[in-house]
Amino acid sequence: MATAKKVDRFVLIGAGRVGTAVGHILEREGVEVVAVASRSEESLKQASKFISKALFTPDAVKAAKRGNVIIITTPDDLIADTCLLLVTEKAINKGDYVVHMSGALQLDVLKPAEDLGAKTACIHPLQTFAEVKGAVKRMPGSVFAVTTHDEKTQHWAEALVHKLGGEPVALEEKAKTLYHIGAVLASNLLVALEHAAELLYQEIGMRDEKALRALMPLIEGTVDNLRKYGTEKSLTGPVARGDIGILRRHLEFMEQDDLELLLKVYASLSLYALDLAEAEVSKSRCDEIEALLRHHL
Ligand SMILES: NC(=O)c1ccc[n+]([C@@H]2O[C@H](COP(=O)([O-])OP(=O)(O)OC[C@H]3O[C@@H](n4cnc5c(N)ncnc54)[C@H](OP(=O)(O)O)[C@@H]3O)[C@@H](O)[C@H]2O)c1
Repeated sequence: MATAKKVDRFVLIGAGRVGTAVGHILEREGVEVVAVASRSEESLKQASKFISKALFTPDAVKAAKRGNVIIITTPDDLIADTCLLLVTEKAINKGDYVVHMSGALQLDVLKPAEDLGAKTACIHPLQTFAEVKGAVKRMPGSVFAVTTHDEKTQHWAEALVHKLGGEPVALEEKAKTLYHIGAVLASNLLVALEHAAELLYQEIGMRDEKALRALMPLIEGTVDNLRKYGTEKSLTGPVARGDIGILRRHLEFMEQDDLELLLKVYASLSLYALDLAEAEVSKSRCDEIEALLRHHL
């Protein structure tokens, strides 16, 4: 790393999916991970299977006092309180680095550390991690949004992302909310959409996990197309074909009471799809479809 010198001693506070994976990758890269703190013995035990040389302790203050780079990977709601505790207990010193990895939060949650002269950064992997092994595998190769308050810390944080095998992208603090909305749309709400499709398929007789299994090749084919051709060329289906008769049939079917929410989701997303179809579908047909969809919002 260009500016993170050899003497940097890393501490992780919060040994969940992200913290444990970060510790593992850093240690693998020859970085000194000196301490890991987490709330439960169970998390610490799990982390010790991935990180070998650190002190494992439930005491965040004791852990932080051992290092000069403190990465707080607790749940988002606890980052501010954790930072405040470490500052109050003098576990963070002037010149230390304090980092969080939340996509939603800005740097203000680390303000107490910055006020006493520590350098603060957020490095957010634009990725989803359901468990530690997956995080170890997927973190390298992911884009990381990097937010700091000064150029020197930015370089340091970007070098840290490179150590993790990620691709740093600078993100201004004021852009974080929009950035996070994009991430939620691309991942979390995609899962919600697949769940909606799964429920419909269960309704027509595909029991339990059979429904999702049936949908999986379609989901994978869609992701594959997105990777190869981008959003515009990947859109197929009634909107892409300008097939207003099919759309009307779908919308009218969903007018029944228990599908009211799905109807609104379907109509709203179809309007976004219409944006993509405009190159292929005539202007007059697009206008007709738009009117039909707006009527059902
Ligand atoms: N998971 C993702 O997909 C993802 C992706 C990008 C960024 N992130 C960010 O990464 C950060 C960590 O997320 P995660 O998914 O790794 O969460 P997680 O798996 O829930 O892990 C959080 C860990 O923090 C520990 N903890 C809770 N309170 C604590 C405290 N007061 N002191 C010390 N440790 C405490 C928990 O311990 P116990 O297990 O003992 O309760 C748990 O091990 C968050 O900022 C999140 O936004 C997550």
